[in-house]
Amino acid sequence: MSLRARLAGIGHHLPPRVVTNDDLAQLFDTSDAWIQERTGIRERRFVDEGTTCTDLAEAASRQAMEHAGWEPEDVDFILFATLSPDLYFPGNGVFLQKQLGMGPVGALDLRTQCTGFVYGLATADAYIRSGMYRRILLVGAEVHSRGLRLTDEGRDTAVLFGDGAGAVCVEAVEADAPAQGDRPSSQLLTHALHGDGANALDLCLKKPGLGSFPFISQEQIDAGDTAPSMNGREVFKNAVRRFPEVIGEVLADASLAADDLDFVVPHQANARITEAVRSRMGLPEEKVASNIHNYGNTTAASIPIALSEAVHDGRVQRGDLVCLAAFGAGFTWAASLLRY
Ligand code: ACO
Repeated sequence: MSLRARLAGIGHHLPPRVVTNDDLAQLFDTSDAWIQERTGIRERRFVDEGTTCTDLAEAASRQAMEHAGWEPEDVDFILFATLSPDLYFPGNGVFLQKQLGMGPVGALDLRTQCTGFVYGLATADAYIRSGMYRRILLVGAEVHSRGLRLTDEGRDTAVLFGDGAGAVCVEAVEADAPAQGDRPSSQLLTHALHGDGANALDLCLKKPGLGSFPFISQEQIDAGDTAPSMNGREVFKNAVRRFPEVIGEVLADASLAADDLDFVVPHQANARITEAVRSRMGLPEEKVASNIHNYGNTTAASIPIALSEAVHDGRVQRGDLVCLAAFGAGFTWAASLLRY
């Protein structure tokens, strides 16, 4: 029997504390007008003390499993994408496994930052097509707020990021499963994954790290090495090129065209990047997810949060042709094409 994968359920969770641009302007030299004009962001969510990235992932996973009709014991593998894990090691996958009360299933952590969810979906698809696993829980979750430098020196990146989580349940289906009424059957179609280390230092977090001594020091913390460092112009220039390129690649692989797309979920990096990609591809506004104004950039969580919102409010229906696309640190860029 030939196997394919499909999204059986999806969920997301955002911490309740809203932090507006004006709130940030109380902490350092910035303004609502500067942030909105450059990024589209109006507010973001920050966790309260005591809440971890795994806690956000647990809440999103429980919602996704309820949507799929799964119990935690139904899951036979976990994929966890984050750049803001609770500890340097072990990764968050095992913490999630424990918090969900699962048996000793495998848990793999993905470290491709903004593209983590798309890399994770391609990985889940490959495992399922190979017959190795049948029910995979894939989560993208971030707690950025504790790592940001909320000072004048860190303001260029501190205004961009927010906390949140999204999760999907990916299940095996027969490749020739019958269509649902007049709708095409749900399945993941194809993926494209890319990386180029030439720009690795244009978007990175320098410390803690073992590439140089010491692992971490007070001087490095004071110098801002534990907050994201970004060459904003280089990121912008590459993102507006790579997004359309990789979306075109998966469409060509499936012998489809941009006009065939019902919905596109780009990683929510910056409203100006999303708008540049949308207009370059000639896509109408209603077909492109954009929620960065509410949540900021939630990195590995941004695609599953935006897709979950669109599924649960009815913008995405079973059988719709959906493209997920991301660009980010590495640089890495990636896309997935699927029939929801
Ligand atoms: N508030 C107010 N002023 C600020 C802030 C801030 N938060 N941050 C920087 N500035 C100032 C700078 O100090 C500079 O002042 P100066 O002219 O006196 O030196 C001025 O604003 C312009 O700074 P630039 O860095 O040149 O600003 P730019 O217009 O390039 O915008 C931005 C910066 C928004 C980051 C832009 O480069 C961009 O959109 N880059 C894309 C990167 C991105 O969106 N990354 C998202 C995360 S990565 C990802 O998910 C892929």
